[in-house]
Amino acid sequence: MADVFTVLAKDHEEVKRMLAELEKGPTQATEASQDQLAQRKTMTEQLIIEESKHEALEEMYFWPAVREHHPAGNTLADEATGQEQEAKEVLDKLDAGDPEFDKLLGTFTGAARKHIAFEETQVWPGLRSVLPAETAADLGTKIAEGKKTAPTRPHPHTPPSPGVLKTAGPAVAAADKARDRATGRGSD
Ligand SMILES: [Fe+2]
Ligand SMILES: [Fe+2]
Repeated sequence: MADVFTVLAKDHEEVKRMLAELEKGPTQATEASQDQLAQRKTMTEQLIIEESKHEALEEMYFWPAVREHHPAGNTLADEATGQEQEAKEVLDKLDAGDPEFDKLLGTFTGAARKHIAFEETQVWPGLRSVLPAETAADLGTKIAEGKKTAPTRPHPHTPPSPGVLKTAGPAVAAADKARDRATGRGSD
């Protein structure tokens, strides 16, 4: 099984790929066809689903490990979870049918790239040198497995504390999935 850095890096690559794709357009302003706009809506939903799962799982498993093992763990985790909360507020408003969509997407894209770079360059190197291999493997498994039951919506008003997420997470995720099924969201 892949370790935590490999699992998270794969997610980051996927998110960056989706952002680049959305950034390419065409957009409402550049006269996208109905089909292209529908595709953009599906891609946006997929981005929100992937991002929501990724950040919720980091908050449940990754940041507690950073706090425990990294010498500057508390400072780094506070900074990163603050970035994640801000991103969730934007994601929560991101709707491909909204006239403000492209502006919000631009805000989200810039913030998401910075956040990923922060994790990969400010947090991972120090953590790699102190995290026991066994713990890195265990966290990788938990995060990969957790994808199946993680929330698929951003929930900016749920506190990003691992305790709250572990207790409330499954019910929240089940409600998200029921809403997804009812609306056909993320189904393709
Ligand atoms: Fe994150
Ligand atoms: Fe991340």
